Amino acid sequence: MPDAKLVPPPTKGHVSIARVSHAWYVVCEARELGKKPLRVELLGTPLVLFRAEGGKPAALLDRCPHRNAPLSLGRVVAGGRLECAYHGWQFEGGGRCALVPGLVGGSEARERRAPACATREQGGLIWVWAELDEEPTREPFALGDAPAGYTRVVRHVEAPGTLHATLENALDVPHTAFLHRGLFRGAGKRNEIRATVRRSADRVEVEYAGEPRPSGAVGYLLSPSGGTVEHWDRFILPSIAQVEYRLGRESHFTVTAFGTPVSDFVTRLFAVVDFRSPIPAWLVRPFLEPVALSIFKQDTRVLRAQSETVRAFGGEQYMSTELDLIGPHIWRLLKQAEAGERASDETSVEREVRFLA
Ligand code: FES
Ligand SMILES: [Fe+2]
Repeated sequence: MPDAKLVPPPTKGHVSIARVSHAWYVVCEARELGKKPLRVELLGTPLVLFRAEGGKPAALLDRCPHRNAPLSLGRVVAGGRLECAYHGWQFEGGGRCALVPGLVGGSEARERRAPACATREQGGLIWVWAELDEEPTREPFALGDAPAGYTRVVRHVEAPGTLHATLENALDVPHTAFLHRGLFRGAGKRNEIRATVRRSADRVEVEYAGEPRPSGAVGYLLSPSGGTVEHWDRFILPSIAQVEYRLGRESHFTVTAFGTPVSDFVTRLFAVVDFRSPIPAWLVRPFLEPVALSIFKQDTRVLRAQSETVRAFGGEQYMSTELDLIGPHIWRLLKQAEAGERASDETSVEREVRFLA
């Protein structure tokens, strides 16, 4: 009898991890950063956030340059300085050490500092430039305020997946009828959808036409009277996933999710939802939130299982079809950005795909 052997099909010896560091990421909501320092992780590096002079957000490497105590154990003192919990060195928002308690005389002249990241507070979010001691070359994505007549809800969640897997999941349509059956799509018969994919230098957009109103519970809430559906999904570098729905004339939803690579296999999503609906917001919210959370739980389960499988096989496998509309584009854009290349706008492509959903 021949030996029984299980030989998996060839696996790529790497994982789809792109570390785009010369970029802005959201690290917390502005309301989360109060008087106490806050430890966050970005691209695997621990940072401490605090409000420095004038309440301006500051981000330092979360390691005291004196003896490696995490600065996040410290406290913010007068003048918006962060005081280390161990020997009390005090750091300004830019990282300069302004005080060494008890030190008398000469060596004060020496420059002591903790590495710092540039920060911005914008749209109710705190952004960090993911390089230490580097001047940002651009500003963060300008979200703006919610338009008049719209309700804004901001939520953040943590996904156990790579940035690429998490963003693809957020913008992937075909899994919704399957993984989220009944909640989002899939309760009715399938319709032929026409998707137009447009890729340019820093983004890819898919426009869907022929989509029926979502048939699950969500569909009714979004548009009780039916009407035509307009739907766009967008990925914008470095890590923004945006889903926009117009249903009939009155309902309009935009979810802008800012992805933050906490570490290679953990991604935080800061979702800003702006919506306008014929049903009053106070009625929509308590219903929509638990539904959104159930959907996210299903996504979390599959993302975790995906990550574990990739780890167990020591690599990954991809067998894409035309239905995987956006994931391969996201990957290409991320890899270009990681290498510091920027595609020119002439590389714009437009393609049409038909499928059933
Ligand atoms: S370890 Fe921070 S002051 Fe000594
Ligand atoms: Fe999903």
